[in-house]
Amino acid sequence: MFNKRVKIKELLSWQPNNQEITVMGWVRTFRNNQFIALNDGSTNTNLQVVAALGVFEEELLKRITTSASLKVTGVVIPSLGKGQTLEVKATSIEILGDSDAEKYPLQPKKHSLEFLREKAHLRFRTNTFAAVFRVRHTLAYAIHKFFNDKGFVYMHTPIITASDAEGAGEMFKVTTLPFDNPPRNEDGSINFKEDFFGRNTNLTVSGQLEGELAATAFGDIYTFGPTFRAENSNTTRHLAEFWMIEPEMAFYDLEDNMQLAEEFIRYIIKYAMEHNREDLEFLAQRLTEEEKALPQDKRSEMGLIEKLEFVINNQFEKITYTQAIDILLQSPAYKKKKFQYDVKWGIDMQSEHERYLVEKHFKKPVIVTNYPAAIKAFYMRQDDGCEPGKETVAAMDILAPGIGEIVGGSQREERLQKLEQRMQEMHVPAEELWWYLDTRRFGSVPHAGFGLGFERLVLFVTGMTNIRDVIAFPRAPKTAEF
Ligand code: 4AD
Ligand code: MG
Repeated sequence: MFNKRVKIKELLSWQPNNQEITVMGWVRTFRNNQFIALNDGSTNTNLQVVAALGVFEEELLKRITTSASLKVTGVVIPSLGKGQTLEVKATSIEILGDSDAEKYPLQPKKHSLEFLREKAHLRFRTNTFAAVFRVRHTLAYAIHKFFNDKGFVYMHTPIITASDAEGAGEMFKVTTLPFDNPPRNEDGSINFKEDFFGRNTNLTVSGQLEGELAATAFGDIYTFGPTFRAENSNTTRHLAEFWMIEPEMAFYDLEDNMQLAEEFIRYIIKYAMEHNREDLEFLAQRLTEEEKALPQDKRSEMGLIEKLEFVINNQFEKITYTQAIDILLQSPAYKKKKFQYDVKWGIDMQSEHERYLVEKHFKKPVIVTNYPAAIKAFYMRQDDGCEPGKETVAAMDILAPGIGEIVGGSQREERLQKLEQRMQEMHVPAEELWWYLDTRRFGSVPHAGFGLGFERLVLFVTGMTNIRDVIAFPRAPKTAEF
């Protein structure tokens, strides 16, 4: 058996007492031909391994270079050096894999995030990305724990689908037909009958519609999986492949939905604060350093830890879309014509508007409800008693400081007739969604759900500013390396 190692995170919590141990990891630095800073990915704190002078062959010492991998056996002793309470005095050092220092792309110095994006295969070996991806892991775990503890059933909804859940039409096609000469119908259109599934299919944009089917049997379900959008948005907030969590609950109205979303976000942030403190403190420090280069008015008002504590301890603000528009119309930014896009009832708020509301006006997360029906998906429940021309739906978006929209959700239209009518108005093909409509035919219930963009949450919690830095191998316009 090879793997009889102690992880460095665990080892660093021990009382040094000449324990004989084996550690394995990658060299961060090697000082004075004697002191190895070894990292195994369990923590950003390196283990100091001491190769006492005269004990090891010169040939071996030469091979201890940045990112070489080592197996070290030795004894745990108190450290006299600064910055650590213990160190390992090596009795044997085995080089598992050499690393040519001349060719290794990362130098032991600070690299820009842009540079590291080009080296995404190695960036986990930097402190920043190691911390980000450990936090990402903890958040994913906390999400499953939250729902499991509440008795939700985790559903795996399909990745390949024939429906466009959001009706936005921004889908990647899935086909086995040849690109150069696809079979055609008499009218020249492509004959999908000959395609693998015998029909036109895509990568899913959302698991919601299938989630609703499950919720109307289990009561409470959630999905957590990859979703795909072919929107050509080259921004720091959009990915073409991102992970989404979509809970769907029978017997919930909009109010219940908002309450769950808020409790959920608080819970997972708190969980990360309790279980990943060291990494979050590292990231907080990183953010403060990075913001030193910005003018005072562009810096965050709160440090990262302070911001997360604030979110855990304060209720989100709740306003209707109509109130949001009124606030924007009354704002100094609007009056001084600082907004690029126009503000009036009916607009799909742009990120500058959302950011004004959360960052300038309320300075905290905001839940905006009851959006105009015309700018929202067909499945949202139509509000009763609206003025003609001002029809709204029971939608809710959660907007977060520095991020914008982090959650989108709604109560669903459970009334068959109203749903069918809405689908017709929005040109959603009812015959293809016969299975979805069946939930409204057989024991329809009030129900609601939401979608949380996982990477946007990771951005918020880690204080990173580009969504491409919180997913291992980002997919975005013209970006699919690795
Ligand atoms: O608002 P969206 O489009 O809502 C839905 O897909 C619903 N089916 C959710 C539901 O009610 N079950 O997307 C939900 C969230 C957004 O609030 C945002 O956080 C994230 O998904 N999101 C993206 N994240 C990264 N890149 C993109 N291109 C994203 N598009 C949406
Ligand atoms: Mg949305």
